[in-house]
Amino acid sequence: MPTTLIEPFRIKSVEPIRMTTRAEREALLEKAHLNPFLLHADDVLIDFLTDSGTGAMSAKQWGAIMEGDESYAGARSFFRLEAVIQRLTGYPHLIPTHQGRAAERILFTVAGKPGDIVPSNTHFDTTRANLEASGVVALDLVIPEGLQPRTIHPFKGNIDLDRVEDLLKRDGDKVPFGMLTVTNNSGGGQPVSMANLRAYSALLKRYGKPLVLDVCRFAENAMFVKLREEGYQDRSIESIVQEMFSYGDGCTMSAKKDGMVNIGGFIALKDERWLEAARNLLILTEGFPTYGGLAGRDLEALAVGLEEVLHEDYLRYRLRTAEYMGEKLKAGGVQIVEPTGGHAVYIDAKAFLPHLQSEDYPAWSLANALYLEGGIRGVEIGSVMFGRRDDDGTEHYHPMELVRLAFPRRVYTQSHFDYAAEVICELKSKAEQVKGVRITKQSKYLRHFTAQFRWA
Ligand code: F0G
Repeated sequence: MPTTLIEPFRIKSVEPIRMTTRAEREALLEKAHLNPFLLHADDVLIDFLTDSGTGAMSAKQWGAIMEGDESYAGARSFFRLEAVIQRLTGYPHLIPTHQGRAAERILFTVAGKPGDIVPSNTHFDTTRANLEASGVVALDLVIPEGLQPRTIHPFKGNIDLDRVEDLLKRDGDKVPFGMLTVTNNSGGGQPVSMANLRAYSALLKRYGKPLVLDVCRFAENAMFVKLREEGYQDRSIESIVQEMFSYGDGCTMSAKKDGMVNIGGFIALKDERWLEAARNLLILTEGFPTYGGLAGRDLEALAVGLEEVLHEDYLRYRLRTAEYMGEKLKAGGVQIVEPTGGHAVYIDAKAFLPHLQSEDYPAWSLANALYLEGGIRGVEIGSVMFGRRDDDGTEHYHPMELVRLAFPRRVYTQSHFDYAAEVICELKSKAEQVKGVRITKQSKYLRHFTAQFRWA
């Protein structure tokens, strides 16, 4: 029996990628103020910046695009998507948005108010920023193992139920709802167990609080449940997904991940508590309720994507990709967050660059070094993204300094991963040459997207 787990697709349409010289990359990175977000994508050889909106659509999705109904109101494409989402989530109400953060902004504007506190395992950066923009405190209560890069635990995305209960006892009147990110992106792409989800939902219910799920990577989470959680081995992905959604009262979704599309998102709600206000805000800022922030063709592609992402051979290959990359890096002496998550591998930058201090922003520095070494673009998940600088200049650092290599869906082949692993392992062998960075310019919210740097 062959053991190689192949890409479960063949390629119909290709895009060239281009190698640059190191001297070119040095100049390009200087021009980008040492911020990989500011590079031109054409100057990147292998782009692991994000798995968001970067996937390849299937022939079936491209076919569905031709069937998009572009009617302003009541488009057939809306009802097609609505039926798929109702079947998967059990939530009757669909509010399509142009991407995840639009869903977040609309829901949080409606459901939160200044002084509120919203717990989650870990809020993603846009989720946190949108809560904070509504005056809400975004509280991360992941289990302690979720913050320990090398502690092996099957569900490192679980939320710490004791700390949630303490919060509800102490400040319950300030909690409008609880959230949970599946999989937990910022914490390493780590899954949440069904048991944790069920218990969190029950705990919130005891205090009369609804649960809003951030479900960008719901299918990857479901596959982890199938592989790792007792009692789910023989269940279909669809039935696992349905059970996951059954514990929530609503969700925000960035369809750019497990929706398998390049743009899109939605809110889905179990009841009407936030529905009318959310729809009104949607009309004000996104569009009419049956298309929201999207074209009819986008709704069609998403309806197909949400079906395709449930295929088990796809999910098996998907999770294996991250695991394979993780194995190669570990063999080269690179420390990563373990076990590997669903959509990405997270390199422990403090361990990679032990000579750097917090004020050197080791993960940011490593992301730059990977580009210089081999044209690979990853993203810092560390103190630039999650730290902040107070008005008096005091800097707050994040406990973890990670570089995320996130894998676009159905885009790169095994040899791309082999190449990337070689580049990273080679850099590891001369890591002491990598310098730290200093921030020279930054904005108040989501500073990582636009900040400028110099070498220390
Ligand atoms: N929630 C999670 C868990 C996410 O990972 C993202 C996006 C969002 C919400 C926001 O969705 O981008 O469609 O507005 N994550 C991307 C990433 C950007 O690279 O991980 P969006």
